[in-house]
Amino acid sequence: MAEQKATNITWHHHRISPAERERLSGHKGCVLWFTGLSGSGKSTIANLVDEKLFLRGCRSFVLDGDNIRHGLNKNLGFSKEDRAENIRRISEVAKLFADAGVIAITCFISPYREDRAKARALLPAGRFIEIFVDCPLEICEQRDPKGLYKKARAGEIKGFTGIDDPYEPPESPELVLNSGFTDAETLADQVVAYLEKNGLLTV
Ligand code: ADX
Repeated sequence: MAEQKATNITWHHHRISPAERERLSGHKGCVLWFTGLSGSGKSTIANLVDEKLFLRGCRSFVLDGDNIRHGLNKNLGFSKEDRAENIRRISEVAKLFADAGVIAITCFISPYREDRAKARALLPAGRFIEIFVDCPLEICEQRDPKGLYKKARAGEIKGFTGIDDPYEPPESPELVLNSGFTDAETLADQVVAYLEKNGLLTV
């Protein structure tokens, strides 16, 4: 975990509370945490959810592993430590979005339970929705949209999740999406239905 380096800092309270910001949004601020193997469909489903929410007038935003690693997290690789730091920074960013009354949608492999648990711990109860995009490795590998599994099998990429690096599936996620056998559109509808049922789309 990152050490606290700065001293002489004091917390400044906002005049506007998260609850007031949610009233302006018309829905809760929360984090939809997609986790799963590369090629499992996280980003595709997440972007469909984002679109469905946008069309309903919700304020949502997708934070995506491949994109964030071009900017905020460009100095991080794929060691266990770097993945932990990747997830730590994203957790904090997602929390800020949620505090701002936005539905933050994150798509990161986030292979370690411990890192996901720490992300969850930053949010109030009910505001962190862990969504396991459950797709068998063989299907991810067959799809191989970026050609990375092929490279990993050839030994050109070391420490690739699912091949020679671990993926720890969630033990009690709020949602499991069987993305190997169901189309992305149907799964995105399941996510929106969950949000509705749990009162996240109203204030
Ligand atoms: S995480 O493990 O730290 O959560 P993240 O979601 O940010 O990973 O990035 C995963 C993406 O980086 C994959 O979809 C893939 O495109 C790319 N990638 C490159 N090298 C690796 C690797 N060794 N393991 C997994 N993904 C990798």
